[in-house]
Amino acid sequence: MTRAEFARRRRQLARMMGPGSIAILPSAPVAHRNRDAEYPYRPDSDFFYLTGFPEPEAVAVLIPGRRHAEYVLFCRERDPEKEMWEGARAGQEGAKEEYGADDSFPIGDLDDILPRMLEQCERVFYAMGCNPDLDRRMSEWIGQVRTRARAGVQGPLEFVALDHYLHDMRLYKSRSEIKTMRQAARISARAHRRLMQLCRPGLAEWRLEAEFVYACVSAGARYQAYRPIVGGGANGCVLHYVDNGDELRDGDLVLVDAGCELEWYASDITRTYPVNGRFSPSQRALYELVLKAQLAAIAKVQPGNHWDDPHKAAVRVITRGLVELGILRGQVSSLIRREAYKRFYMHRTGHWLGMDVHDVGDYKIDGAWRLLEPGMVLTVEPGLYIPAGSKGVAKKWWNIGIRIEDDVVVTRDGHDILSKDAPKTVAEIEALMERGK
Ligand code: GLY
Ligand code: MN
Ligand code: MN
Repeated sequence: MTRAEFARRRRQLARMMGPGSIAILPSAPVAHRNRDAEYPYRPDSDFFYLTGFPEPEAVAVLIPGRRHAEYVLFCRERDPEKEMWEGARAGQEGAKEEYGADDSFPIGDLDDILPRMLEQCERVFYAMGCNPDLDRRMSEWIGQVRTRARAGVQGPLEFVALDHYLHDMRLYKSRSEIKTMRQAARISARAHRRLMQLCRPGLAEWRLEAEFVYACVSAGARYQAYRPIVGGGANGCVLHYVDNGDELRDGDLVLVDAGCELEWYASDITRTYPVNGRFSPSQRALYELVLKAQLAAIAKVQPGNHWDDPHKAAVRVITRGLVELGILRGQVSSLIRREAYKRFYMHRTGHWLGMDVHDVGDYKIDGAWRLLEPGMVLTVEPGLYIPAGSKGVAKKWWNIGIRIEDDVVVTRDGHDILSKDAPKTVAEIEALMERGK
């Protein structure tokens, strides 16, 4: 992402805020794993979206129309001693020169400077409830401003949910965001291919996890967008199984839901295939059904259709298919109305995808499903899960868990599948796995 793109986003937000407004946005805190060990640092998505600033302990302030500095970045000071241990910091000079801030102050000066900035504004754009430390300080600052009322200080009159505005911006991906997401999906799709070639009975689930992470990191994607799910047999029926600790067995399916993060943009792909490389007749029947549902859902990803159209298409195909296979009994339309499919397909067909794997953006507007528009990116991921012991279901269907998930961008005339490099037809998968033997 270029500096110009971050500046463009700040201008767009400033236009929406209007004069007399201030936006205050903190980065994410460092997360401690245990004692002196930290989790790898991940900037807050909203903060990074507007600033491109990668360091912790930073707060961005935007004051549209302010004369000498509209964009102020509070961040850590340079510190040769700390930098010797932890690496370089941008400092106040770097904030201005490399990250485009009009002005920058040490993060330790926030309590002194922010009340003065708040005094001059009528409207505060702030995401309350996301950062308890800053929430508390914000109410202290507002309290300080109030005590100066007799000195003629008016202070803010209105609080506005900043996240609501930012999240609407983030829902529409720019050309360069789509380029990054395409690259993330391509890296993940190739990693999935690699796993299909390596998979065999006797491997531990975590071996596939390790190979997936290795393939992504080797291709330049250092982080996973979420913990990889590698579930063989019955574990494939656990929707967010992340233990990945069992052995993959001959005759079972394996469900792999994994996606890398590239430049803080997520991919999210699921493929399900036979551990031994050949679908059994019952696995194949259910797999073909989920694939048919997925293709029907993807076909509904078109500008002008609404958010629920892909889900409705998937539900229709799955319900009809389950009746044909004798797993559900009754009339298709009434089974759909009664949501009988939910016993085997209990989640929705997708979610927005972006800097967060379950990305931001409203799914409904004024109570109605949102229309799909070019630049939106979503997953399409129907599934079927039939655990052992499912009452009234023949044994041959037990322990089959299937999900097929792709990342799809809405285009002007339809859609584009970012994750298309990951094979998903029975013929493609069996051929690839045969070659891998
Ligand atoms: N990997 C989480 C999801 O598919 O939503
Ligand atoms: Mn997924
Ligand atoms: Mn997903």
